[in-house]
Amino acid sequence: MKILTTLFCGALLISGAQAAPFAKGDPTIGKALHDKACISCHASMFGGDGSKIYTRADRKTRTAQQLAARISGCNANTGAGWFPEDEAHVAAYLNQQYYKFK
Ligand code: HEC
Repeated sequence: MKILTTLFCGALLISGAQAAPFAKGDPTIGKALHDKACISCHASMFGGDGSKIYTRADRKTRTAQQLAARISGCNANTGAGWFPEDEAHVAAYLNQQYYKFK
């Protein structure tokens, strides 16, 4: 029984880790990267600092996976030249600030 309890709690811990997507990213670094490479277009489309692209009601990004894919795609399209860990920082920032995927 004790083993079963341990296994069960272990599983909870693992799913708990998944509840915080992009835990490896640092939002502070992500914000700096994002503000440098990503605002210009979004701002010209939506005004202000462009963040409405992330908060509009019909935003395209619905899951943490889609957010990661989008950032990866925008990184490639814009030639930002980010490493995977840079993408993780930006994902952590956008998720903490706007998307709030769990
Ligand atoms: C060349 C212009 C341009 C640049 C630079 C740009 N984007 Fe975008 N971004 C777009 C367009 C266009 C869309 C799609 C809008 C739509 O589908 O309605 C978009 C959408 C997005 C979305 C999805 C928004 C949603 O609906 O949830 C994310 C996330 C995003 N961009 C991240 C980034 C990141 C990160 C960078 C910096 C590497 C970046 N973008 C740089 C043009 C740009």
